[in-house]
Amino acid sequence: MKPETSKSFEAYSNSPYSSIKHSSYFHVYDRYFSRFIGQEIIFVEIGVLNGGSLFMWREFFGKHARIIGIELNPEAKKWEKDGFEIYIGSQSDPNFWEAFFSEVGQVDVVLDDGGHTFEQQIVTAECCIPNIKSGGLLVTEDVHTSYIGTLVDLRRILLSVTPRTKSTGSIIGLGILPRRKNSKKTFRLSRSLNRS
Ligand SMILES: C[S@@+](CC[C@H](N)C(=O)[O-])C[C@H]1O[C@@H](n2cnc3c(N)ncnc32)[C@H](O)[C@@H]1O
Repeated sequence: MKPETSKSFEAYSNSPYSSIKHSSYFHVYDRYFSRFIGQEIIFVEIGVLNGGSLFMWREFFGKHARIIGIELNPEAKKWEKDGFEIYIGSQSDPNFWEAFFSEVGQVDVVLDDGGHTFEQQIVTAECCIPNIKSGGLLVTEDVHTSYIGTLVDLRRILLSVTPRTKSTGSIIGLGILPRRKNSKKTFRLSRSLNRS
């Protein structure tokens, strides 16, 4: 499917600052995030970089959404003047997450587009899942890093953390795997949390 036919790609294209997203992710964003459009949600993205995706998500979700960016680089604080909430810290630090959630409370969606190592993704999943509202989402981008070199299988790790939460919702992993030379396949891992 062409990214141009997705609403999230339109928002991405309209962003005044650059953002880096795999073209094959846009239809997945539309599929999972569209039900939050126009809602008073708390949307958290790990990884701010040039600020472009903050503007993309604000256009996509609308003015009622609280858009929060988490970033290692303190310069990201500059985006607060544009109405975004920015928290400086490391996604691989459980103390950071404890302080973050005690201030912000439970959130609707966490999109992990941070450092992309499997350690960071695992700590983030462990710390965020209990703090995502029922019906919410954790979307982890670029889970193919788990397949590079060490071959740690994030699927099994993500599945092993889910029984420890009482939330309902879903975790979704997005990644790109080489299929043949010059050809890539996007894969999606998803797991529903149907516990009450
Ligand atoms: C792929 S870029 C983010 C791209 C942005 N979301 C976009 O769409 O343009 C990754 C960002 O994650 C940040 N980062 C790397 N490790 C991190 C960590 N441990 N905690 C928080 N942010 C981290 C980097 O500084 C970088 O700005």
